[in-house]
Amino acid sequence: MWPRGASLTIAAMNTQTSSSSALPSGQGSTSVLPRIAVLATGGTIAGAAADATNTSGYQAGVVGVDQLLDAVPALSTVARIAPEQIASVDSKDMAMALWTTLAQRINTLLASDDIDGVVVTHGTDTLEETAYLLHLTIKSDKPVVLTAAMRPASALSADGPLNLLNAVTVAAHSRSHGQGVLVAFNNRIHSARDVVKTSTYAVDAFQSPEIGALGWVQDGRVEFQRGVVRAHTLATEFVIGPNWPLVEIVVSYAGVSRSTVDALVAGGVRGIVVAGTGNGSIHASMQQALADAASQGVAVVRSSRVGSGHVMRNGAAPDDALGFISAGSLNPYKSRVLLMLALAAGGTGPVALQKVFDTY
Ligand code: SIN
Repeated sequence: MWPRGASLTIAAMNTQTSSSSALPSGQGSTSVLPRIAVLATGGTIAGAAADATNTSGYQAGVVGVDQLLDAVPALSTVARIAPEQIASVDSKDMAMALWTTLAQRINTLLASDDIDGVVVTHGTDTLEETAYLLHLTIKSDKPVVLTAAMRPASALSADGPLNLLNAVTVAAHSRSHGQGVLVAFNNRIHSARDVVKTSTYAVDAFQSPEIGALGWVQDGRVEFQRGVVRAHTLATEFVIGPNWPLVEIVVSYAGVSRSTVDALVAGGVRGIVVAGTGNGSIHASMQQALADAASQGVAVVRSSRVGSGHVMRNGAAPDDALGFISAGSLNPYKSRVLLMLALAAGGTGPVALQKVFDTY
């Protein structure tokens, strides 16, 4: 089960002397290395192009987990790795059935005494959605760390190998316990709740707007500079299951009509997240359609298309009067994840659903 470095110890690793945070799992110098499952799902980190200078015209998700691990020999000094190929998808095609499979597999692995943490390799495009979904549905305080890459595995200066090493280093570290799901990317450690993709091409593609990263990882050192405040993992009411209520996202913009909202309601949507302008404001035509939807029992959540900041309840729209819910600081994509889970858990009505958004 442990094909890589199964009998290694950390006796010889790490020549740094300044902080115990350089040691994984807080173990002494003769301890057995932590056991970390690496679950591969595809993405650019597993992408390949025809030549090494091509960083945009490649196929995502074609390099297998064994090849990804073989590219990082230093992993054997950090952890014993248990690799699994869960999927091989471009994450633009992430589907809820795969979310169910992934979350259930992680819960099963973490329930075992044989596994100390999990790393998920993923595409960057929907990583923030998967990370938040896992943050709300994993039932363990053991570390779960997502990572990815902006350059394919075949590229000059591919960023995937170091991101993978750093993700395993974070997952193997004792201070990563109880922090919810983490994202290790470009030397930074982000909370799954906060992290968003902010660049289409740069290797520093992930940020936590307004509040910044939780910490950093470099050369085997892991440093957390703040904690995670909102409830997650063991403290949530959400259980991953096969049923996903239909929740869609609409965008408000100059001249938008009500037709998209009306079509969704006619199609049986259970919830609508609106990516509003500014502080979640909504064009009058669309707002009337959403008010009509809410009066028919559709859950309507106001978020913002801006990319940072928060949406104030009863700020840019009279939420109390229209039966809307404010997303607070969650972006539209994460709001959709939370609303699907809340509806699947039986949440109903704007008061109860607002409490969910105020809690998570
Ligand atoms: C993907 O999200 O699977 C492709 C893009 C990427 O990983 O950067």
